[in-house]
Amino acid sequence: MKKKKIFIKTFGCQMNEYDSNRIYDSVSKIGFVKTYSQSDADCYILNTCHIRDKAKEKVYHEIGRVKKLYRDKKKPIMVVAGCVAQAENEEMVKREPYIDIVLGPQSYHKVNFLLKNHIANFKQEETEFDTISKFGYFDQIKNNNNKVSAFLTVQEGCDKFCNFCVVPFTRGPEYSRPIEKIIFEAEELIENGVKEITLLGQNVNAYSYKENSKEFRISDLIDRLNQYSELERIRYTTSHPKDMTDDLIDCYTSCHKLMPFVHLPIQSGSNRILELMNRKHTVDDYIKIYERLKKINNEIEFSSDFIIGYPGETHKDFEETLNLIKQIKFINSFSFIFSPRPGTKASKLEMIDENIAKERLTLVQSKLFNNQKEMNRSMENDTIDVLVENKLEKQNKFFGRNKYISPVIFDGIKSDIGKIVKVKIQTSNQNTLFGLINKNMRAA
Ligand code: SAM
Ligand code: SF4
Ligand code: F3S
Repeated sequence: MKKKKIFIKTFGCQMNEYDSNRIYDSVSKIGFVKTYSQSDADCYILNTCHIRDKAKEKVYHEIGRVKKLYRDKKKPIMVVAGCVAQAENEEMVKREPYIDIVLGPQSYHKVNFLLKNHIANFKQEETEFDTISKFGYFDQIKNNNNKVSAFLTVQEGCDKFCNFCVVPFTRGPEYSRPIEKIIFEAEELIENGVKEITLLGQNVNAYSYKENSKEFRISDLIDRLNQYSELERIRYTTSHPKDMTDDLIDCYTSCHKLMPFVHLPIQSGSNRILELMNRKHTVDDYIKIYERLKKINNEIEFSSDFIIGYPGETHKDFEETLNLIKQIKFINSFSFIFSPRPGTKASKLEMIDENIAKERLTLVQSKLFNNQKEMNRSMENDTIDVLVENKLEKQNKFFGRNKYISPVIFDGIKSDIGKIVKVKIQTSNQNTLFGLINKNMRAA
């Protein structure tokens, strides 16, 4: 039987990337193969993100683009998946009849059924929060990801309800997968040749799975993964300061494969704003975590997320954010102007002046980008460990990452892929380190 082609365009966070890969794994069971050409697919999936800005409008714009691509060809089955699908549900097919299927993130286990039963002009919509069935289904389907570095979702959803955030509405309540199912999937990845696993969750460090009156936490997952000799590196993202518990902090002593890099969003350096955001932690809580980890290992570095111009943010609040950035030298970070999201509490609040918010963002980013440049510059002339991921497409150079997840580009040979090599850094810019491999000094 002729294989059908499927193309998925993925927006948003790492979890969407993981989900897209799992959708490919699922549809391969009903004769679909992944295509890299977006203008030649039998099924076209947009895996969407709702976190900021005009997310919904962007999706309709994308569909307009797909329509043009297929103007003279057979229309693909058009699927909108991800967080916009969840938030907008059947409204999407009403507004844009080109869409055939609307599929929310907790209904991905239905993708094969929906595609098999697709009939032209018959619209289907699945946006139930059916997380247990979803993971139960995917537990039966092999994870075929064989890249050097792979994501593995262990926890999904959020019960924290920060006042600005749509995630609790689009991903549903917090759910932690059974530990043995996660380990089984990790073993599949390791067998496929994966060398680095990043444990994923909207609040990954809130992972909590109870069995026979014992609670398993993310520290248990890290500890188990640390024991696989073929696995080189462990990471986790995204964390909440409230869930940085002692057992997780202890992993930085006991698990040598856990990378010394903590992405820990704070959002603001002002306690007043954190309270208005309903963040459930203070700046002081955050600094204590930072100091504890630095004491364990001074090489541990931090990155964070900042929301600038939250409703009510005064000049003083903003100054406090700048002070925090001075105090904690985040080596890279994400920062965005507050974007009112439909259905959230903060969307009803009065916005601060747009120009002031833009000025503040520029200032905060100049500080954050400077830290990043300085950090990279400080590594020039050092020889560092790099996990080699792939060869660059258009150059005879190789791509890998250092322990802080910074991209490194260097000379190399194909057999280095999947290995940790020593690279002497020669130059750098804000995002990337450039160097030469030290062939006589490969890391153990
Ligand atoms: N769970 C993580 C935490 O507690 O920080 C964050 C997950 S969220 C998917 C990623 C980031 O998006 C947040 O840290 C926040 O900085 C940003 N974000 C969420 N809602 C936003 C909004 N309404 N406007 C601007 N940025 C937003
Ligand atoms: Fe959103 Fe993170 Fe807050 Fe949950 S904890 S509501 S995911 S920002
Ligand atoms: Fe976006 Fe949904 Fe992830 S809103 S950031 S794709 S959880």
